Amino acid sequence: MKGLNMFMLLSLLFTSSFLIESGASQGEKEGVYIVYMGFATLANGSSSNYHHTLLLNSLLKQKKNAVVHSYTHGISGFAARLSAAEAQAVSKKPGVVSVFPDPVFKLHTTRSWDFLKYETDVEIYSTPNSDTSSSGGSDTIIGILDTGIWPESDSFKDKDLSPIASSRWKGICMHGDDFNSSNCNRKIIGARYYADPDGEEDGQFNSPRDTVGHGTHVAATAAGSAVPGASYYGLASGTAKGGSPGSRIAVYRVCSENGCFGSNILAGFADAIADGVDILSLSLGAAFVIPDFKKDPIAIGAFHAVENGITVVCSAGNQGPYSETVANGAPWILTVAATTIDRDFESDVVLGGNKVIKGEGINFADIQKSPVYPLIYAKTAKNKYADEENARSCAPDSLDNDLIKGKIVFCENSDSVSDVDQKEEVKNKGGIGLISIDDQKRAVATNYKEFPMTLIGSKDASEILSYINSTEHPVATVLPTKEPDIAAPGVNILAAWLGNDPEATPEGKKPAQFNLLSGTSMACPHVSGLAAVVKSYHPSWSPSAVKSAIMTTASQTDNTRASITTETGARATAYDYGAGEINTTSALEPGLVYETTTIDYLNFLCYHGYNASDIAIISKNAPPGFTCPKESSP
Ligand SMILES: *[C@@H]1O[C@H](CO)[C@@H](O)[C@H](O)[C@H]1NC(C)=O
Ligand SMILES: *[C@@H]1O[C@H](CO)[C@@H](O)[C@H](O)[C@H]1NC(C)=O
Ligand SMILES: *[C@@H]1O[C@H](CO)[C@@H](O)[C@H](O)[C@H]1NC(C)=O
Ligand SMILES: *[C@@H]1O[C@H](CO)[C@@H](O)[C@H](O)[C@H]1NC(C)=O
Ligand SMILES: *[C@@H]1O[C@H](CO)[C@@H](O)[C@H](O)[C@H]1NC(C)=O
Repeated sequence: MKGLNMFMLLSLLFTSSFLIESGASQGEKEGVYIVYMGFATLANGSSSNYHHTLLLNSLLKQKKNAVVHSYTHGISGFAARLSAAEAQAVSKKPGVVSVFPDPVFKLHTTRSWDFLKYETDVEIYSTPNSDTSSSGGSDTIIGILDTGIWPESDSFKDKDLSPIASSRWKGICMHGDDFNSSNCNRKIIGARYYADPDGEEDGQFNSPRDTVGHGTHVAATAAGSAVPGASYYGLASGTAKGGSPGSRIAVYRVCSENGCFGSNILAGFADAIADGVDILSLSLGAAFVIPDFKKDPIAIGAFHAVENGITVVCSAGNQGPYSETVANGAPWILTVAATTIDRDFESDVVLGGNKVIKGEGINFADIQKSPVYPLIYAKTAKNKYADEENARSCAPDSLDNDLIKGKIVFCENSDSVSDVDQKEEVKNKGGIGLISIDDQKRAVATNYKEFPMTLIGSKDASEILSYINSTEHPVATVLPTKEPDIAAPGVNILAAWLGNDPEATPEGKKPAQFNLLSGTSMACPHVSGLAAVVKSYHPSWSPSAVKSAIMTTASQTDNTRASITTETGARATAYDYGAGEINTTSALEPGLVYETTTIDYLNFLCYHGYNASDIAIISKNAPPGFTCPKESSP
């Protein structure tokens, strides 16, 4: 009680100085800022950090509803709605390391129809065709910061799992819209959610339940139970199984359809540290590289997780293969790139009834090789209002109904017209199929569902054009997707999906229980699963030892012994794939384990904007009297 009175007194004093410094200019636009105050020890649900308690109390007095989150486990700080002047004033307070606007991160999938409607970049992948036997990773806990979970999926059945020891697990199963404690089980042992701080909850679930699909897919890839006979309408069929089927899943819904708020991500890290997870998996990041480690909630959250013995695995983003595109590159994070897409989804074009041209795409069309359909070049099918340029690329409202009705349309590519827009235009005007040119998008198959559509390379495009030119009645057909039996490198992801998503369901089919996605988002949980297996074999290993085991046993060739290539086909280097492709067998028995020491990380921080007094605040493991290397000082 005595302590409490003392706090109140101090906070009163502090409040007045806070006001004076902020200037409290009226009408100034407010935003959510993250106030980062270093580490907190895990104590009793309240902050162990004196400055934090002081500052937060004074703020609560001043602006009762301003505080969005208070971080007290592992990480010290808070997120609050402040004006720029107030943020500036707070940044000068004792114990404050940095104050920065709450960034919004995005999911690290690339192109896919599921996400096109939110205008993020997404791509598609395929499946692990593995046996149902091994159950590695037993009893490790993988925390997943993502869009939540669809708990009814078969991938989250818990029939072979024992109850989790309560001494290990402190987490909870939060109640939310369409979600309660009976949705957790011995596989999903915890679930929390964090509402978007901007407060606009239009149709938004306040719940750990996944309404996007991404989190469900990632969780199943990391630790899903084996589900035999899984497929996406017959494609990529096999047993769907997580990288560590014996692991438990702890869900932290930090992302919504609006993206992933940094303030929520930090809250998820803090809770995961207190709950007792072993591994954290984040398939998300900044759309650009945040160069300042003092303003990157993932780097900050991961730093504290690692100081608490948690291995943090993050996706590298999908901005590559260009240089300086790796997100989440702090050295305490195990950063995962996606290797080349291995499974090819081929949907071929047949010209004139016999000439086959290889196309790429996923469709479940029921047209066949015979009969053939009239083929028309989009440029010659423009309507009277459109210009030729738009018609060539099948831009919206450019084609003539009468000219394309019942025909397969050949569209050229254009930077301003997406393949999905092309599909809509041709379909709306009565076209019955579409052949489009796109060298880039071909690397990852797009799902066109029931519409016969395929993407061909520019080399083949001229062949189609000259065929059209040289024939009075050109005909073609677009065949439904087949999955060639090719041995190929990399990761293929078929994993659990929302049980009610019309966007993933071709017309006239039952809702998909599984879905195909790709991107570093999907590569990351493979490594998280492997990290969980390594940790279960070597429970005493530190996060840096787990990271080292995975990296030193990686191979620089793919599983066909060919060199790894980048998306554009160039030979990849260590800058693209890091240490190489993971090897799930040898990671368990690495010849060498490099332990990165606390001092290594602290020195890294010295070179990235932190001085010795900041470091004393942020690292609970910093040796007393730690100083930065001389040459690192600014
Ligand atoms: C937690 O609270 C108890 C009793 O209130 C106290 O004895 C203990 O020291 C506290 N733990 C820490 C780590 O502060
Ligand atoms: C959870 O929700 C289900 C379905 O709405 C309901 O049947 C069940 O009673 C609820 N359980 C709890 C513990 O509230
Ligand atoms: C098709 O014919 C047009 C003129 O009729 C010509 O401009 C074009 O180059 C030809 N294209 C091909 C690929 O032969
Ligand atoms: C993975 O490691 C095992 C055991 O060391 C080895 O036999 C296998 O060839 C490796 N796989 C690849 C793809 O390098
Ligand atoms: C360390 O940096 C902070 C700003 O990040 C500054 O306020 C502080 O004075 C610096 N401390 C020393 C000892 O240079």
